Amino acid sequence: MSKSTNNASIKGVILAGGLGTRLYPLTKVTSKHLLPVGNEPMVYHTIRLLVDTGITDILIVTNPEYVAGFVKALGSGNDFNCEFTYRIQEEAKGIAHALALAEGFAAGGRTAVLLGDNIFQDSIKQVVSDFQRQQKGARVLLKHVDDPERFGVATLKENRIVSIEEKPQIPKSNYAVVGVYLYDSSVYDIIKTIQPSPRGEYEITAVNNVYLERGQLEYSILQGDWVDAGTFESFAKAHQIILNRKE
Ligand code: DAU
Repeated sequence: MSKSTNNASIKGVILAGGLGTRLYPLTKVTSKHLLPVGNEPMVYHTIRLLVDTGITDILIVTNPEYVAGFVKALGSGNDFNCEFTYRIQEEAKGIAHALALAEGFAAGGRTAVLLGDNIFQDSIKQVVSDFQRQQKGARVLLKHVDDPERFGVATLKENRIVSIEEKPQIPKSNYAVVGVYLYDSSVYDIIKTIQPSPRGEYEITAVNNVYLERGQLEYSILQGDWVDAGTFESFAKAHQIILNRKE
């Protein structure tokens, strides 16, 4: 089977919908992804991270209230050396629900999904190139953290993922699943098979568990600092990561 080694063939998707209720009232009139982190709006950092891997065809998913602000802040993509397409998620029904909107955009190819509120110290080039060497399936990025109960948590056994649980009360490991997901074209069919979780969301963890059951879920480990800027405390840490990086 021939394998592409050109990252330009992978489409990028940045998920920037949701309500940002944990950052209220900062999010009363704008999306959390447009709030300043360091010297730029939060989502700029995610875009630059993706473009740095060579992925330049990027879909931005956001909600109806904030889409005008995104178009104003991001434009066509010229300023970032990429090209943007925009899609609106009418209701915040979960990460997998937002990703489903990218099916036509992906056009039967591979997709790199980034959560727009994840801030990284280092490049994610390595995980993308690891994925390029994969024949099929999915790849997630794991980070050893002190507070795994806030995240999707992966349990490893003999260098394989054996389970992923979404925000478990008693985590079986300290490996958080970071907001970078790499999928082959089957992800869109998988999303159609999953059911909403008890909190009423189409969870990305449910999608990853289908790949796991198929024996098609790989992972890379993230070494550098990382934060999910969804709370006031982590939002402050996001600033620190970016300011340290600029130094
Ligand atoms: O940050 C990593 C974590 O992100 C993972 O470890 C979890 O497995 C995953 O479920 C997710 O957890 P969060 O509870 O932090 O997700 P949150 O609701 O904050 O949404 C993450 C991003 O996805 C955020 O930038 C907004 C976007 N989003 C979210 C929802 C629920 C959408 O675009 N649409 C949505 O409907």
